[in-house]
Amino acid sequence: MITVRVPAKVNVQLGVGGLRADGFHDLANVFFAVGLFDEVTATPGEGVTLSCTGPDAASVPLDDSNLAARAARLLAAHHGLADPGVHLHIAKAIPVAGGMAGGSADGAAALVACDALWGLDTPFDTLLELAAELGSDVPFALLGGVALGRGRGEILDALPVAGAFHWVFAVAEGGLSTPAVFRECDRLREEAGTGSSEADVPTPDADPALLAALAAGDPVALAAALTNDLQAAALSLRPSLADTLHAGTEAGAIGALVSGSGPTCAFLAKDAESATAIAAALTASGTCRTAHATHGPVPGAEVSAPRP
Ligand code: C5P
Repeated sequence: MITVRVPAKVNVQLGVGGLRADGFHDLANVFFAVGLFDEVTATPGEGVTLSCTGPDAASVPLDDSNLAARAARLLAAHHGLADPGVHLHIAKAIPVAGGMAGGSADGAAALVACDALWGLDTPFDTLLELAAELGSDVPFALLGGVALGRGRGEILDALPVAGAFHWVFAVAEGGLSTPAVFRECDRLREEAGTGSSEADVPTPDADPALLAALAAGDPVALAAALTNDLQAAALSLRPSLADTLHAGTEAGAIGALVSGSGPTCAFLAKDAESATAIAAALTASGTCRTAHATHGPVPGAEVSAPRP
């Protein structure tokens, strides 16, 4: 039995370029791995089967559309294994369809877990390539830490970061579809008259002030530099998120933004104590389902030590 622990992400910068011919958008995507984890446990089995536990388990698909199942099959095919056998159990704590790459995290964890279970010893660079085939956010879940994602988010460069940052995540009732949020971003750009194609929108770049704040471990400077080009689209589809962002700011957050395509909202706190207080205030505010205080950056998908 192999258990892999894998983190959620927040995007501290999500710069979205124009719509490409392949239906994706070029990004300047600064991923930040935070201490909210799923665990994927691989045990020998017949075919590829899945189970899931956790508060959102009922909304996790247990068929071949699940990225964990697709990851197991892709790894097996890469190695020419005709008859892969594995049962994958997902202990889910990352919100489903929440903008924190929980499905991508499970795909990354399944790659690492099956690689260990089947004794394949796949080079890390190959795992990153397989991860990119599964989805734009899957390679980062393998890498963890803080990284700049270019292209559709899959071309990664690790970024220097000092110390720990303290975060609060306000989990919404229900999810948002990532493709729907990107479509709404394009629609809003058309409506504003700026256009939404690659020719209309300049290719985004990482913000030097944000990179400096990360390298210096400066939460106030990072809070000032947080940006998400999908935020207006997420708010347009879910206007009540404005109340959540307001409640966290009122409770003392130094920075607030929608996480990725939402609807989870992310808040930067000045220290651990403040994060605990903000999480309690958000939970009490009635503007979200629940809120978690945590910190980051944390490592990417890794095999956990066996429990005694
Ligand atoms: O890569 P992934 O399967 O996670 O992407 C899901 C959807 O999100 C894509 O089909 C696309 O609609 C949208 N997307 C995008 N540009 C990106 C990443 C995702 O438009 N860079």
